[in-house]
Amino acid sequence: MKVIVINGPNLNLLGTREPDIYGHETLADIAAGCQELGAANGLDVQFKQSNHEGEIVEWIQQAINSVDAIVINAAAYTHTSVAIHDALRAFSGYKVELHISNPHLRESFRHVSYVSPAVDAVVAGLGTAGYAHVIEMLPELLNDAG
Ligand code: DQA
Repeated sequence: MKVIVINGPNLNLLGTREPDIYGHETLADIAAGCQELGAANGLDVQFKQSNHEGEIVEWIQQAINSVDAIVINAAAYTHTSVAIHDALRAFSGYKVELHISNPHLRESFRHVSYVSPAVDAVVAGLGTAGYAHVIEMLPELLNDAG
């Protein structure tokens, strides 16, 4: 089974960006952990990051009919992007929205998600460990989804 983990703007700065909120792990650390866990669980995990909305839309479009699941931390685009919402709606595989922090405990502009209405599941507030938890659960979730 194939999974793409898509990360949005500023997540390339993990490790040094607001570590009190996002922790000390870098995106490369998270990617390595996801790929290792994926391999152990029979998943081929592609891990990507972009600061550009259109590039994220293109990756979602490319996943249509070629990937079984999308895990997306759209970062700030979560709260603004109709384009990412629409692209996710066009993908009929399993979709998980992921956030390192819990946006509902933060500023009110983070309380709206354009991603949530287009996905099967939302994971937020588990820190960077959330990525590994989702990868571990995906085989079962994909099986249950049929
Ligand atoms: C985030 C939460 C967003 O509100 C923020 O813009 C991010 C990261 C998270 O993972 O907690 O960049 O998606």
